[in-house]
Amino acid sequence: MAIGVPQKNNTLLDSGVHLDYRDKAPEKEIFNGSIVPFDELHSNPSHKRLYFGDNLDVLRVLVTDPNICGKVTLIYIDPPFATQSQFVSRKQSLAYEDTLTGAPFVEFLRKRIVLLHKLLSNKGSIYLHLDEKMIFEMKIIMDEVFGPENYKNMIVRKKCNPKNYTRKTYGNIADFVLFYTKTDKYIWNKQTVPLSEERKKEYQYVEEGTGRKYMKVPVHAPGTRKGETGKPWRGKMPPPGKHWQYTPKKLDEMDARGEIFWSKNGNPRRKVYLDEHPGVSVQDIWLEFRDAHNQNIKITGYPTEKNPGLIRRIIAASSNPGDLVLDCFAGSGTTLAVADEMQRNWIGADNSIEAIKTILKRFDSGLQAMGDFVNKDAHRQDNYSQQTLFDSLGDATSRAHSTPKSQHKAIRDFSLFASNDSPSELYETVNTWFSHP
Ligand SMILES: C[S@@+](CC[C@H](N)C(=O)[O-])C[C@H]1O[C@@H](n2cnc3c(N)ncnc32)[C@H](O)[C@@H]1O
Repeated sequence: MAIGVPQKNNTLLDSGVHLDYRDKAPEKEIFNGSIVPFDELHSNPSHKRLYFGDNLDVLRVLVTDPNICGKVTLIYIDPPFATQSQFVSRKQSLAYEDTLTGAPFVEFLRKRIVLLHKLLSNKGSIYLHLDEKMIFEMKIIMDEVFGPENYKNMIVRKKCNPKNYTRKTYGNIADFVLFYTKTDKYIWNKQTVPLSEERKKEYQYVEEGTGRKYMKVPVHAPGTRKGETGKPWRGKMPPPGKHWQYTPKKLDEMDARGEIFWSKNGNPRRKVYLDEHPGVSVQDIWLEFRDAHNQNIKITGYPTEKNPGLIRRIIAASSNPGDLVLDCFAGSGTTLAVADEMQRNWIGADNSIEAIKTILKRFDSGLQAMGDFVNKDAHRQDNYSQQTLFDSLGDATSRAHSTPKSQHKAIRDFSLFASNDSPSELYETVNTWFSHP
């Protein structure tokens, strides 16, 4: 693999590449749009808020709020993908329409992204989830708004299992998450995953007495040294052209702790233990967070609901407990519920009644297994125990999805806002929800 050497002073403040299309509003105009008032239907002193309404109106309100503007640490958005489809819930009620395409789609999303940029704190990050339909146009827009120097990754996610396509193309199992930061001083908590079974096989030796697995590695490294590491240890010089990796004193200490393996010929090797491996850094291809792919995985049933494991990783990497997480295309509330579980504050918005109903139900009772063959009696037990094929195989996606019912903690400590032209169905739903304990 060839790796180029980055040139110094290569700061890309403006790449010179811009997306030009009809009716592209000047940024100033986006900020100057009229402010739609929101009523507080339920008030709570926590820093958690759910909005029902068009997110353009919500974001404009938030930009004027000094307690929020510039204080959002993490934004994850999963907007419509320009699929030209209607999405219905499992009960066949319309959840939302995804009809915009081309320039109108780009402008719809750009307006929100401009406001989101303003809301983000200087240590903040934004993750934009899309698929191949609009990702290239939106990458250019993200570069325009955030600056190409703040682009961090385009994460490729495996969204589903391979399908048997009849079309003459490769199967489509990927979607994408663009990761940008506001500045270079962003929160970053490195994420790791355990070693693969294949890599674990490299730890083929078992230590007598402790049973710990280890592999053997040399205690010398290339290059000669004049100092301590170039001197003999236990009467042995390092091999020609090499030096000891540690000083003779340190090697003595390691040997005293049993960390050196001596071959029959008296050659020392260092033991590297499997149980001390720090894990492998997460890369930009994520295979383990498919969306519900098996009837028994617990979900809300809202269309296009994302895998909570995906959001858990993003929140862990780019925020800390107490930080403010925002998702203005909240859908079933995956980001909000996971943020809450991870002790973050959150702001969510959606303009679909079906989404708000789903979020409230999820906050109350968590996720449910919705397969046709689900044993309804199992739901009555506090500790949901139905075995799935994937559970029994230790499938990571099933684990990422499922929170045993007994672990679900109801979320009730948030404020709820709605624009004052909201339908009466919303008020009825909200009143019923907050009136029962
Ligand atoms: C792809 S879904 C989000 C799914 C979500 N990530 C989840 O895990 O459930 C997109 C959501 O954006 C909402 N939406 C679309 N346009 C909106 C707008 N202008 N204002 C607020 N919400 C909007 C839709 O109602 C839909 O719930």
